[in-house]
Amino acid sequence: MNRFAHTWPNHQSKIIHHKFVKVFVTGASGFVGREILRHLYAAEHSVRILARDRRSLRVHKAEAEHRVEIHPGNVLHAPSLVGALTDCDAVIHLVGIISEGGESTFENIHIRGTQNIVSATQQAKVKRFIQMSALGTRANAVSRYHQSKWAAEEIVRRSGLDFTIFRPSIIYGPDDQFVNLFARMSRFSPVLPVMGGEQSRFQPISVGDVATCFLRALTEPKSIGQTFDLCGGEVLTLEVILDQILSVMGQRRFKLHVPLGVARYQAALLEFVFARLLGKSPPLNRDQLVMLQEGNVGNPQPANDLFESKPIPFREGITRYLKRDE
Ligand SMILES: NC(=O)c1ccc[n+]([C@@H]2O[C@H](COP(=O)([O-])OP(=O)(O)OC[C@H]3O[C@@H](n4cnc5c(N)ncnc54)[C@H](OP(=O)(O)O)[C@@H]3O)[C@@H](O)[C@H]2O)c1
Repeated sequence: MNRFAHTWPNHQSKIIHHKFVKVFVTGASGFVGREILRHLYAAEHSVRILARDRRSLRVHKAEAEHRVEIHPGNVLHAPSLVGALTDCDAVIHLVGIISEGGESTFENIHIRGTQNIVSATQQAKVKRFIQMSALGTRANAVSRYHQSKWAAEEIVRRSGLDFTIFRPSIIYGPDDQFVNLFARMSRFSPVLPVMGGEQSRFQPISVGDVATCFLRALTEPKSIGQTFDLCGGEVLTLEVILDQILSVMGQRRFKLHVPLGVARYQAALLEFVFARLLGKSPPLNRDQLVMLQEGNVGNPQPANDLFESKPIPFREGITRYLKRDE
């Protein structure tokens, strides 16, 4: 029996009118998930998270700092999800990968994983479902990442749930793997690689702005049945992004434009060594290069209007966490 079931005549109206909801979050130990937990805690929502490894430091921190309940489980193993959503009012499904390794393939994690979470949501009679997708996801996508994200979106759209889908561009923030990677590289290397040319444009969005939209969607009925791009206000090439990182860090570095053919060869080698031999995710794969070449630009207006979001400019956002080298 749901906590608020006696107060509201049907589930949807409860989500819309009640200020506090109990939310089940998958992927909560990840980069985006940790920020969403901070926002959920600040908004006084109750939270239960799915955790593959409940002894991990990040899960302990979530328990200690944000008072979350833990449900041990794995999106790939449907039986582990039984009981996960008891008493919950909404689901935020964040689990996703950018690189494959072992059983964590795009098809498994994005498609099977989403199907398992959607089925668990339906079985628990929870209606509200917020799905993390990615900008560039479309029916005829070229990259396998986007193809599998599209299949996941279709599962959600056909589920009969009160869904909202978010498609962010590149997300940056204090613990990101993107800005911080270039910042780290620039500390030890005099040369920085630039892949993708003028046509590869991006609209990076801060993790705080992404979390704001997820939180507002939880209690915003107009977001039900909708898919939103989440992107920052500026359209930037990779080279401009790199220039801004270097400028904020007070550095000058030589930029080496790496032809995509060469990058593809390197990525294939990394995939072989990491994915095939070590069973781990490679630091760069050919799928990422396809996405890099395509660029990642969308329309931020509908989300900004509905959720009253004003994405922070990229340079201002990274200045908050990048250390300036003296
Ligand atoms: N970061 C970006 O720039 C970006 C841009 C667009 C869209 N997205 C999407 O946003 C979502 C979150 O991205 P992120 O950057 O936060 O990723 P992340 O830091 O790698 O976090 C991934 C999360 O998924 C969990 N997970 C992975 N496999 C799992 C499984 N089999 N069962 C249960 N949990 C599993 C991880 O748990 P463990 O702690 O156990 O590993 C972790 O909590 C993804 O769907 C991604 O595609 C990200």
